[in-house]
Amino acid sequence: MSLISFVRDEIAIVRERDPAIKSSMEVLLYPSFKAMLHYRTAHRLYCKKHYFLARWISQRCVRKTGIEIHPGATIGKGLFIDHGAGVVIGETAILGDNVTLFQGVTLGGNGKEKGKRHPTLGDNVMVSAGAKILGSFTIGENSKIGAGSVVLQEVPPNSTVVGVPGRVVKRDNVKIPRMDMDQVTLPDPILNDINHLKQENKELKEEIAALKEFIAPK
Ligand SMILES: CC(C)(COP(=O)(O)OP(=O)(O)OC[C@H]1O[C@@H](n2cnc3c(N)ncnc32)[C@H](O)[C@@H]1OP(=O)(O)O)[C@@H](O)C(=O)NCCC(=O)NCCS
Repeated sequence: MSLISFVRDEIAIVRERDPAIKSSMEVLLYPSFKAMLHYRTAHRLYCKKHYFLARWISQRCVRKTGIEIHPGATIGKGLFIDHGAGVVIGETAILGDNVTLFQGVTLGGNGKEKGKRHPTLGDNVMVSAGAKILGSFTIGENSKIGAGSVVLQEVPPNSTVVGVPGRVVKRDNVKIPRMDMDQVTLPDPILNDINHLKQENKELKEEIAALKEFIAPK
């Protein structure tokens, strides 16, 4: 892709997703624009095994924008990183098309995996401010990850995930009811056993009385 069409695409992406932008020129000031410009070059160098140079460019980008994209990460079309500061995208992360990330997002490893260690994000995924997605699993397309969430396992498509650890609260725009949180009327297994024994005892007494009546009628 030529530099001109890259800039044109970036303008369209930012204008579509950031209501705060006032003119196309402002795109040149966006950390997301600078980060993608650096990533394009760094990724090309990484693919040609120029690892040192690739890292040098990506680290330069961190100093300028606060966004660290490992040159080995695979990024689709239309990524937008709003505000940027504190965003980390790991080496084996894979991002689909039209992904949106906010400041403070980590697409990282959990420290237990080798090889593919970072998440895969489907098309149109949105990861809100401060959210951490840790591990090599997939976040299904069109899913939203809530601000401050820590996601540690696979997320199906079209889901909203919130909390620590992250849990699916909506799927296909339908709310998923919480687990029963009633701590007043908790089940009492001992009382249940006692009631069961009482019932058995009552039935046995009735049977014995019936037998006595049968053997020796009054
Ligand atoms: C997750 C989010 C995208 C909303 O997605 P949504 O699919 O529209 O979900 P809803 O707003 O219907 O919320 C669903 C439930 O999750 C809860 N929830 C939403 N965001 C949450 C969060 N970050 N943490 C904890 N709970 C959250 C809601 O209170 C709601 O709970 P309820 O069912 O008990 O009422 C949004 O809340 C969010 O986190 N946005 C942050 C965007 C951002 O980073 N902005 C920074 C700009 S600088």
